Amino acid sequence: MHILDAIFLTSNTKVEGCPDPHIKEVAFIGRSNVGKSSLINMLVTKKGLAKTSGTPGKTQTINHFEVQVKQGKNWYLVDLPGYGYAKKSKSNRGEWQLMSKRYLQERENLVCTFILIDIRHEAQKIDLEFMEQILEWQLPMAVIFTKADKLKEQAALRMYEQYEQVMIERWGDSPNLFLTSAESQLGRDQLLKFIETLIS
Ligand code: GTP
Ligand code: MG
Repeated sequence: MHILDAIFLTSNTKVEGCPDPHIKEVAFIGRSNVGKSSLINMLVTKKGLAKTSGTPGKTQTINHFEVQVKQGKNWYLVDLPGYGYAKKSKSNRGEWQLMSKRYLQERENLVCTFILIDIRHEAQKIDLEFMEQILEWQLPMAVIFTKADKLKEQAALRMYEQYEQVMIERWGDSPNLFLTSAESQLGRDQLLKFIETLIS
């Protein structure tokens, strides 16, 4: 896929305000600070498009970007707020759950939800439970491991395989997995090829 440009469209707290669903979209979700916004910028090679931060909880709304493609169909890339952000109040967390749940269940042009996982950490309950929720709703999902540059290659591969094993033990199968780094651009081509199959 040859990406010409990517532009920010809207920030929303409700599905109703999201851009017209005439083109397909993929969404990035995961724990706060996992690298969702950084990965979006890496994929479209546009630093600063999605706002990143060292402080967890930066992205608080449903953010739509339109990716413009050479000789192909444009698509939306969606940055969702992170979950598991400890500093959020309980009522805030409830709002997040409601907003994300409604978005995931009601957005008719959503073709895949990517769950982002920091490659440095072993499988955590909060992520596995979130994936189980997505499976229960029968929505297509895939897993993206982030920050691979923070580990040596062998260590990253070991974590990847361990995680895959945990999912196979839990569900008898593993979703599509991608190993990426927003720093080194690792996994970019693979991920874009996969997205291309989803949006065409
Ligand atoms: P929220 O919007 O708060 O949920 O966070 P997010 O998931 O969008 O994370 P964000 O992209 O803002 O990145 C969080 C921090 O991790 C920033 O300091 C990034 O620079 C850093 N980071 C993200 N991706 C990578 C990566 O691939 N490698 C390294 N070394 N750092 C990364
Ligand atoms: Mg973010």
